Amino acid sequence: MSQTVQQSLQSARQQLAQLVPTSEASIEAQILLMHILGVNRAWLLAHATDLMPENSVQDYAHLVQRRLQGEPVAYILGYREFFGLKLTVTSDTLIPRPDTETLVEAALQKIAGPMRVLDLGTGTGAIALAIASHAPQSQVTAVDASERALKVAETNRHSLQLANVSLLHSHWYTALAQQTFDLIVSNPPYIEAADQHLSQGDLRFEPLSALAAGEDGLADIRQIIAQAPGYLNQGGWLMLEHGYNQAEAVQNLYQTAGFAHIQTLRDLGDNPRVTLAQWLAA
Ligand SMILES: C[S@@+](CC[C@H](N)C(=O)[O-])C[C@H]1O[C@@H](n2cnc3c(N)ncnc32)[C@H](O)[C@@H]1O
Repeated sequence: MSQTVQQSLQSARQQLAQLVPTSEASIEAQILLMHILGVNRAWLLAHATDLMPENSVQDYAHLVQRRLQGEPVAYILGYREFFGLKLTVTSDTLIPRPDTETLVEAALQKIAGPMRVLDLGTGTGAIALAIASHAPQSQVTAVDASERALKVAETNRHSLQLANVSLLHSHWYTALAQQTFDLIVSNPPYIEAADQHLSQGDLRFEPLSALAAGEDGLADIRQIIAQAPGYLNQGGWLMLEHGYNQAEAVQNLYQTAGFAHIQTLRDLGDNPRVTLAQWLAA
């Protein structure tokens, strides 16, 4: 059945409004159609009364169906923008979040010259690649326990041509013996294992190993903070993203481990999101 671009958009918008608020349904309908047709938003507006190209009606309906099943838009498209970088994402990786840009900005403020940076749990490589591209003199090591996630990170590193990033398979620090860094950053798993959000919305489709961290959500953060002093240079910083309600607990963990200058930063939604501290070894 022939349909115009506008009719296709309208039908998709109505269906998607069952899943997300109307304003988002409208944007998602456009994003999916731009992807199918390989065009931009201006083209959609200018060609609203054109007939949809052959096969595109079915292809578009298929993508809309996937979205209606709850699959995140980023997995359907296969990419997500993060800190101005276009990153490949797959179901083996967390979808990078805007909140994490707070961590990248804080990291860039601490970096001067050829500093050694470590990104623990790199996923798509989002944090490591954003730092490496904005601080080209830094040397960034990025690790992940997931070989599959590392493959995606390597795809991104290669397409962005960032030679100052090396990727390593490691369970937190285990493959980093003898190495020390000026800055360690991480957005580790930090959701409580029993949190019902894990079985709702986009989170259902993301790897559980990227999200959940023990009963209180702090299992990985606890380990990362406790072991960090062995991998930080004198005066080096550790910066961690965490849940909006975990700042106090994370500050206490830093304190117990002997860190100085502990500080929590807020994200774009004004939630306490990143806590950093300096290692001034005795
Ligand atoms: C919340 S995701 C963050 C991904 C990416 N840094 C970002 O911000 O989009 C946490 C990442 O930590 C990795 N991870 C989980 N446990 C790990 C461990 N023990 N050692 C290393 N990486 C781990 C997961 O595979 C996942 O890629």
